[in-house]
Amino acid sequence: MDYQLHNRSCYGLPGLADNSLHALVTDPPYGISFGGHYWDKDLPDPQIWADALRVLRPGAFGLVFSSVRLMHRLMVALEDQ
Ligand SMILES: C[S@@+](CC[C@H](N)C(=O)[O-])C[C@H]1O[C@@H](n2cnc3c(N)ncnc32)[C@H](O)[C@@H]1O
Repeated sequence: MDYQLHNRSCYGLPGLADNSLHALVTDPPYGISFGGHYWDKDLPDPQIWADALRVLRPGAFGLVFSSVRLMHRLMVALEDQ
């Protein structure tokens, strides 16, 4: 089976066609300042979910990691798309 992995910034996903991907696997920032990291000070901009939904095919799978403390906020951001 042929496949491609795209390991890149999640913003915009330039160069990826609409409805072209079968799966999304992502472990985005949790918004808990994990380890004092600046990149974890907030949840990601909800735009990343709009961008992800643009490139995912209907029926595609998404595996999205989060933290127990703030997963509800991530889920609402996803649901709002
Ligand atoms: C929760 S950590 C994931 C850690 C990863 N699972 C690991 O085991 O190394 C979130 C990661 O998202 C990365 N990140 C932050 N902004 C990003 C962006 N715009 N696009 C892609 N990755 C980003 C951070 O650098 C960080 O490594």
